[in-house]
Amino acid sequence: MARGPRSLRNKVVVVTGGAQGIGARTSAALVRHGAKVAIGDLDQVLAEKTAGELGGDTVALKLDVTDTRGFTEFLDEVERRLGPIDVLINNAGIMPLAPLAEEDDASTRRQLEINLHAVIHGTREAVRRMRPRRTGHIVNVASMAGKAGFPGGATYCATKHGVVGLSEAVHLELYGTGVEVSCVMPAIVRTELASGLGEAKMIKSVLPEDVAEAIVDALRKPRFDVFVPRSLDAVGRVTRLLPRRFGEWLVRTLGADQVLASAAHSTARADYEDRAAHSAPAAEADGR
Ligand code: NAI
Repeated sequence: MARGPRSLRNKVVVVTGGAQGIGARTSAALVRHGAKVAIGDLDQVLAEKTAGELGGDTVALKLDVTDTRGFTEFLDEVERRLGPIDVLINNAGIMPLAPLAEEDDASTRRQLEINLHAVIHGTREAVRRMRPRRTGHIVNVASMAGKAGFPGGATYCATKHGVVGLSEAVHLELYGTGVEVSCVMPAIVRTELASGLGEAKMIKSVLPEDVAEAIVDALRKPRFDVFVPRSLDAVGRVTRLLPRRFGEWLVRTLGADQVLASAAHSTARADYEDRAAHSAPAAEADGR
């Protein structure tokens, strides 16, 4: 007999970077489904405001995902307050943009620390907690930039490819354990992170609410690949089937090669770039 969608009622869900954007909208959707949500974010004031607006049992705690020990202690604190973690959503991420030759090494390291190292650490912590209980779900927010390269965001693409590879490997490691893994690959999502970005033909931007809905759907009916919009899966498959130079011709014809590159030089991004540049305090204090 086919099983119906899983209930999220009273499930303990952790959302990193949940103060705004995709994380905040995902937290809201989860609260509507009756989950107990813990938001961990660098911006504690905004995280508390978001948690207050969401109501339910939502808690907000300060978290810098680049503080490895602090990340572990944050998960311990969530378990003390809400109970064993059922779902970890590794969502916190930054996207500073520049052609690679113009990117400074501090920005490269920051992206590696937040977008990749912290996701590896969070995933490992979740596996250690969930596997003995033979239940749980790890959701890693990667990007379409984890499936293809986009000029103007080379390091960002490298980190997101890393998240896809990590998630695929851990998904296989966890086969038969009762712990699920999902990898989320959104196109452009209208949040501050995407300020100044244009659109490519055929690849429409989506709202953070659309990503939230897709994540909730993947938690209720577990699946590994979560493309938002779903049509991205087909676009990616077709492009990969083509010989590289035809695939690249298609990417240029659709304007997908300009989406990050054109924003990299726009003034509309200045505020976001400044915020992203201050997003890894623990890593920087350690000289990482
Ligand atoms: P956002 O900038 O709106 O929100 C990111 C949140 O992460 C912020 O609340 C920020 O304070 C928090 N954060 C940053 N550094 C942190 C740290 N060291 N520790 C804890 N929290 C930290 O960004 P958005 O768009 O909501 O992005 C969320 C995720 O979705 C990221 O991983 C991003 O790469 C990914 N994504 C976004 C897309 C977009 O077009 N907006 C497209 C595809 C993927």
